[in-house]
Amino acid sequence: MAARITITMITDRNRVRAKSNEDIQMTKDAIVSDEMAKKFATEKESPYTNWVRNEGLEIISAHYIKNLHTVELKPWARRGGNGVYINHEASRTSNDCYVCEIPAGGKLAPQRQLFEEMIYVLDGRGSTTVWNDAGSRITFEWNKGSLFAIPINCWHQHFNGQGSAPARYVAVTNGPSVLNLYDDVDFVFNTEYDFKKRFSGEPDYFANKGEQKGLLLDTNFVADAINLPLISAKERGAGGGHIRFNMAKGSMNSHISQFPVATYKKAHCHGPGAHVIVMSGEGYTLMWPEGEEPKRYEWQEGSMIVPPNLWFHQHFNTGTTPGRYLAFKHEVVSIRNAQGVPKAWISQRIGGDQIDYADEKPLVRQLFTEALAKHNMTPRMEEAYKAELADLPPPRHAAA
Ligand SMILES: [Fe+2]
Repeated sequence: MAARITITMITDRNRVRAKSNEDIQMTKDAIVSDEMAKKFATEKESPYTNWVRNEGLEIISAHYIKNLHTVELKPWARRGGNGVYINHEASRTSNDCYVCEIPAGGKLAPQRQLFEEMIYVLDGRGSTTVWNDAGSRITFEWNKGSLFAIPINCWHQHFNGQGSAPARYVAVTNGPSVLNLYDDVDFVFNTEYDFKKRFSGEPDYFANKGEQKGLLLDTNFVADAINLPLISAKERGAGGGHIRFNMAKGSMNSHISQFPVATYKKAHCHGPGAHVIVMSGEGYTLMWPEGEEPKRYEWQEGSMIVPPNLWFHQHFNTGTTPGRYLAFKHEVVSIRNAQGVPKAWISQRIGGDQIDYADEKPLVRQLFTEALAKHNMTPRMEEAYKAELADLPPPRHAAA
């Protein structure tokens, strides 16, 4: 198996040239001749990429960032902090990601925007004030591990609560398609309109509580997502915990997934734009397009993996603690059956996009066993393999 990946060396002046082939990786370069590239030159940039450039920021094109805590940022004069954008290959039609730092003792400039934004706090503590044109105003406090979303078009301002260290967060937005649709920065960032169904000043809007509806936790703020209790979800394999969010009544959603020590998830594939951010634990992820050999990406707290469109991916916990990650998504990610169930949750044997343990390649188990052996551990998968057999559909070739 090829464990190392060739990174794309992007030469655009607004894109980062990766410094290390370990820390930031593209899955495939697919670089063609200059002659062919010239034929598409007029389609290369978009109102969105031009906007990022005008903000003075760079776009990292990557599917793997080893450490969001240390990824390099540039001054973001308009907002009063530092930032960098991270794009996957389908960002212009689905979602993007950025990392932002609020200076020690500082604050960002207020902003409103006609797109949605979900935020996870990587480092530090502070507060955010959200308000609308009707005059409703709410302030809430956050820490490392907090999770929340900005209601669409609400004014919001982030404050660093520490004078001694910067605060850093990662955000996923659906800004690219909005900026590309309207091609009018002033309209997107300066339109006076309250979406009252999304936010109308409810005093407990950002309270750290929520009603559980099936796998969904109905809330707009999680103070400590790293330690949030989860719900058992055997469908994803190996005794995993799961919880889903639809914050600020937005169209984008997110979930947290956890898996026990010495276990791994079932492989699956889906559309582009799931930003998987590791909240705790250590391990690796295998990713591969149908018919190709898996590639391996090591992760730890702060790593981010964005599985490319329809690439299978499979997460393995090789550490001594449970592994937990947050996935910021967009509806483009989900390919659903007629019942509305994501096909990534359904066995390939009946037409879904999840590979049952029983159907995985021997290499998968071999690699996992080898990785655990380095910590003098052995896989704890027997129970999961057995549980799967209880209601496993017949193999596809055996089906009528
Ligand atoms: Fe996935």
